[in-house]
Amino acid sequence: MILLDGKKVAEAIKEELKNEIAKLVEQGKNIPGLVAILVGENPASEIYVRSKAKDCAEIGMRSKVEKLGPDTSEETLLKLVEKYNQDKDYHGILVQLPLPKHINEDKIIEAISPKKDVDGFSPVSVGNLVIGKDTFASCTPAGIQELLVRYGIETKGKHVVVLGRSNIVGKPIANIMLQKKAGANSIVTICHSAAKDLSLFTKQADILIAAIGSPNFVKAEMVKDGVVVVDVGINRIEDKNSAKGYKIVGDVDFEGVSKKASFITPVPGGVGLMTRAMLLKNTFKAYLNFGE
Ligand code: GUN
Repeated sequence: MILLDGKKVAEAIKEELKNEIAKLVEQGKNIPGLVAILVGENPASEIYVRSKAKDCAEIGMRSKVEKLGPDTSEETLLKLVEKYNQDKDYHGILVQLPLPKHINEDKIIEAISPKKDVDGFSPVSVGNLVIGKDTFASCTPAGIQELLVRYGIETKGKHVVVLGRSNIVGKPIANIMLQKKAGANSIVTICHSAAKDLSLFTKQADILIAAIGSPNFVKAEMVKDGVVVVDVGINRIEDKNSAKGYKIVGDVDFEGVSKKASFITPVPGGVGLMTRAMLLKNTFKAYLNFGE
């Protein structure tokens, strides 16, 4: 069994981007920039946004956090998004979700220019992904593909089984792996909670991608020998042995499944760090495609 080390790969990606940005600085060119917009006071969102800004600083990318109060109106937020759509120093715009209830999330996401939609959440980006056009894919699925590619895992003709149909992970990863392109070209099945017996599907997987948000859900008897397992889950469960009183586990019972898997992501240290690295990569891509 080989661990798919998201930390190592994410560091490698960051190092590559850091070198590219250093070259731009040397040439006296503008550098890529990311603005993260945070509305309200959600502690988890504050941590996410702070870590994104830290990632940018580490590779020499420009970044800014726009922190708005919980009572910010939809109109004010739309105006701010529009301001950054026009700003030549910020090539990626990220509006941290969830937004306060009085703001229509869809409307805000749709207001982000598709040229700067580094989260890949807008209907234009999603549509382009589905029809196989170059676009921004959302960061977690893009990171999963990158991890498979960097470990040289064959995907062509392989059966990828996706557990979960969310707009952020399940649907986009299925569409990515379906594309007739290198690092994809897979046979794809999407499963979800309405399946009577999920193991009928999971047992067929050459590559199993678990994104259902249910701790330790996938057990050893649900997979075949040699399966490649990507665990997207981040679940908090009680752990009396830990000082914090909890620990983070994935959607896959790592201990059991890792005995049968050929490759498997750990949680933490797998997909999560890849997500962060892909946000930087998407921002760099936005700069290359549309920046000046
Ligand atoms: N909230 C939780 N994850 C994400 C993410 O990847 N992007 C945005 N914009 N909001 C989030």
